[in-house]
Amino acid sequence: PDCNPKGACRLNSSNESAKNALFTPGFAQDPYPVYARMREEEPIAKLMFPDGQFGWMITRYEDAVDVLKDNRFIKDMTKIFGNGYQSIFTSNMLFSDPPDHRRLRGLVQQGFTPKLVESMREHIQQIADGLLDAVEGRSEMSLIDDFAFPLPIIVISEILGVPIEDQDKFRVWSNSIIGASNSEEGPQVYQHMQEFTAYLGQWFEKVRQEPGDDLISQLIMAEEAGEKLSEQEIYGVVALLIIAGHETTVNLIGNGMISLLQHPDQLRKLQEDPSLVKGAIEEMLRYNGPVEFSTSRWAGEDLEFRGHQMKRGDLVVVALDSADRDGEQFADPDLFDITRERSRHLAFGHGIHMCLGAPLARLEGEIAVNTLLRRFPNIRLREDAGELEWRPGMIVRGVKEIPLSL
Ligand code: HEM
Repeated sequence: PDCNPKGACRLNSSNESAKNALFTPGFAQDPYPVYARMREEEPIAKLMFPDGQFGWMITRYEDAVDVLKDNRFIKDMTKIFGNGYQSIFTSNMLFSDPPDHRRLRGLVQQGFTPKLVESMREHIQQIADGLLDAVEGRSEMSLIDDFAFPLPIIVISEILGVPIEDQDKFRVWSNSIIGASNSEEGPQVYQHMQEFTAYLGQWFEKVRQEPGDDLISQLIMAEEAGEKLSEQEIYGVVALLIIAGHETTVNLIGNGMISLLQHPDQLRKLQEDPSLVKGAIEEMLRYNGPVEFSTSRWAGEDLEFRGHQMKRGDLVVVALDSADRDGEQFADPDLFDITRERSRHLAFGHGIHMCLGAPLARLEGEIAVNTLLRRFPNIRLREDAGELEWRPGMIVRGVKEIPLSL
C-alpha cells in the first residue's frame, strides 16, 4: 500500500492484501478503509506483529464478541510463557484469568459503580469549569493540554489519593509504557518503569503510615488485613488505574470533539439540545474509539475458531475500532450520528474484562463535551493548524494536539 507518514494509506491496488497496511506509518491517519477491506477479504487475518509475535487479527463485530467471551482465549501470558513474563505492570485484573481476575476486580469494583460515579458529577463539573476558567478570554486553546488531559487525571488522582502535582511524571511514565509495544526506546521504557515503581513504593510507604479514605489506602488495608492481594498486586492494580486514567478518557474527549467539530450538523444538534449528550458520547466511542488493538488475548490451547486452526500461544488481537464500523452490526457504519439508537459498540470491550472505568469515563466525557459547548459557542478546529496528527501505535488511538479556536 502507498502510505506516507502523514497521509492515509491508499489501497488502490485490489490485489494487494489490506493487512499489509496495518503497521505502516500512515495507517493511524485513517485506519477505517484498511479495516473495511480486511473485514471483506480476511476477517480473521493471520499475521506477524511488529514485535515478531505470530497471531491473528479479528476485524468483524460478531467474531470480536465471540473471542471476547470465549474462555479458551486467555489473558495471563505466564500460563504459556512462564513466570519470567510476570511484572508489576501485569499483576492486575487486565492480565489475569478467573479466579484471580474476579478477586482483583472485586477489590476495586465498588469504587467505580455507576451510582458512586454519579455522586461525583458535581465535583467533576467544578474541575471542568476550573480548567476552562483558565482559558476564558483567550481566542484559542489546546484541547488536549488545557483540558482533555488534565480533567481525567485530576479525577483519578483524587480517587487514588496521589498528589496531582505529580501528573507530569505520570504522563511521561504512562505514555512511555503504553507506547512500549511499538517504540524503539526499550531501555528508556525500562527506566520509566523503574522510576514509576520506585515512586509508587515510596507513596505506599507514606500511605501505610497515614492511611486516608482513598482507594490506595483501602487496597493497602485489604493487603494488611489478610491474604486477599499481594504487595505486587497493589502495584499492578494502582499502575493500571493510573495508566487507564491517562491514556483513554483523554482520547474520548479528543477524538469525540474532533468527530463533532468535523460534522457541523451534529454539533448544532447537540448545541441546541444538550440532553442528547449521552447518545453523543456513545457515538463518539463507536465512531472513533480511543482503544485501537489493545484488546488482545492468547490462545490458551490448540483450538479451532470459525474454521481456523490456532496454536497455543498465538496472539489474538481484536480490532475494536474495526468491529465498531462493521456494517453487519451498524446501519450506515461510517455515518456519525449522535441520535443513533441502541448502539452496542465495543469501545469498552466485552465479557469479563469489560472496562471497569466505563461509568466514570462516560460521565467525564459528558461533562467535558457539554461544558466546552456551553462555554464556547463558537468553538471550532483552528483552520491554520494543518492536518491533525494521529499518534502511531498499537494501543491507543488519539491525536497529539488539537488546536481550537474559541
Ligand atoms: C479495561 C477501554 C477508561 C480502567 C478496558 C478494556 C477496554 C477499555 C477496551 C478491555 C480490555 C480487554 O478486554 O483486553 C476504555 C476506554 C476508556 C476507558 C475506551 C475511556 C473512554 C477507563 C478508566 C479507567 C479504566 C477511566 C479507570 C478508572 C479499566 C480497567 C480495566 C479496563 C481496570 C480492566 C478490567 C478487567 O480486566 O476486568 N478498558 N477504558 N478504564 N479499563 Fe478501561
